Amino acid sequence: MSANKNRVYIFDTTMRDGEQSPGASMNLEEKLRIAAVLEEMGVDIIEAGFPIASQGDFDAVKAIAGTVTESTVAGLARAGRKDIDRAWEALKGARRARIHTFLSTSPLHMKYKLQMEPEAVHQAIIDSVAYARNLCDDVEWSPEDGSRTEHDFLCRCVESAIKSGARTINIPDTVGYAVPEEFAALIQMLMNRVPNIDKAIVSVHCHNDLGLAVANSLAAVGAGARQVECTINGLGERAGNAALEEVVMALRTRPDKMPYTCGIRTEHITKASHLVSTITGFPVQPNKAIVGANAFAHESGIHQDGMLKHAGTYEIMTPESVGLNRSTLVMGKHSGRHAFKAKLKELGFQLGDNALEDAFKRFKDVADRKKNVYDDDIVALVEDEVVRSHERLRFVALQVVCGSRGPQMADLELEVDGTLHNVQARGDGPVDATFNAIKKLVPHQAVLALYQVHAVTEGTDAQAMVTVRLVENGKSVNGQGSDTDTLVASARAYIHALNKLLTKRERTAPAALSA
Ligand code: KIV
Ligand code: ZN
Repeated sequence: MSANKNRVYIFDTTMRDGEQSPGASMNLEEKLRIAAVLEEMGVDIIEAGFPIASQGDFDAVKAIAGTVTESTVAGLARAGRKDIDRAWEALKGARRARIHTFLSTSPLHMKYKLQMEPEAVHQAIIDSVAYARNLCDDVEWSPEDGSRTEHDFLCRCVESAIKSGARTINIPDTVGYAVPEEFAALIQMLMNRVPNIDKAIVSVHCHNDLGLAVANSLAAVGAGARQVECTINGLGERAGNAALEEVVMALRTRPDKMPYTCGIRTEHITKASHLVSTITGFPVQPNKAIVGANAFAHESGIHQDGMLKHAGTYEIMTPESVGLNRSTLVMGKHSGRHAFKAKLKELGFQLGDNALEDAFKRFKDVADRKKNVYDDDIVALVEDEVVRSHERLRFVALQVVCGSRGPQMADLELEVDGTLHNVQARGDGPVDATFNAIKKLVPHQAVLALYQVHAVTEGTDAQAMVTVRLVENGKSVNGQGSDTDTLVASARAYIHALNKLLTKRERTAPAALSA
């Protein structure tokens, strides 16, 4: 930990609280990709999951603990020994591990959720923190619903948690009820009244139900908190958590009002936002601060004129400071393998020989069909290629008949476990026909819960990025696909989601495909 008293630690919980958003599920490979970007960005603590929640969560925390070296990897655990043991089992391979354990302390939660008396809750805090501390040097404790907890009881619990070995005390505004002045006063109250508070770092974890999560977090920093828990794009339960990018850019842009530093390399923000949005299928609203498509766009003539005279007239931070490089024209169809490889390196991708070869073929294909190939096109097609490796179902070709005269028909070629299949199907429109063709080859009961199309760049020849969400037995998976042809991108996205569903099913009962 830093000797600098004004250093704020950034604790990212995109893969734990963020994943608790309905539909925002991520598989192991996707979590590893997010973890790599968070580590590269300089996140201090990555909360990788809740190991007891499922085998998938456990595996993801263990895999992240085994690969991340710079950031601390945290796993969440309730107050029981079983939870804490499971968290430690997943975390113990990490270079820096943290057990994050929590228990509700508000009258409402203790009475109705826990059905425990305050004395029993207090004892459980002492027992669980001491137990976790026996396993791991770095223990964080959170009083769930902390902002609605009686002050005397909160002080007592915090003091006991620190005595039992907690190094970080995290105060959650679990239901997003607090307002900045009140939340800052709560932190100040703990700073003043808990006698051993100097032995721990005070953290905050704010939810956004009233749209105040970032404001509450920053107010708490002003009152002495030195860790902020947040998520990329503000993902999280209900209305989400404090958005990492907003907290960090507020600190960077207003040091005159908030003289605190953090270790985030902000130039990675746009990439992280894009990755999380693509993987979860949660789009970023265009007017979202820092990472929305319009955050640095100037539409009105008066603003454009001002910008031309001096960028500071309407821009309080540069697009480059968040890694938004105005789409650069990169390559064309005459670009060779070496140039392509160099471009991938510049964009932060390191592919093995086979993946590189596949990505290069896709690039040539796109360059043949699209006049200008931008950085974002390359990112989309490489992500598509990375995502597609080791899949049982592989898209080969698609021919679609559409238009107003009908009937709409799809003729699809699909490789299933290495064998080529061909199928035709009709539908209510070309997308429906395409999805019906896939369903004919791979029958399933999953329900289509989301179908979403975005243009990767501008212009009518832009690549389409499609996200598909399938839900089966209450579990959801997201698939992505990109192509200059929206229907091909749709087929790729659906097949990607189906591949994930098959992997999920295989974990419980391996079965042959019915194609
Ligand atoms: O919102 C909350 O209270 C939480 C705790 C587990 C920290 O997510
Ligand atoms: Zn939370």
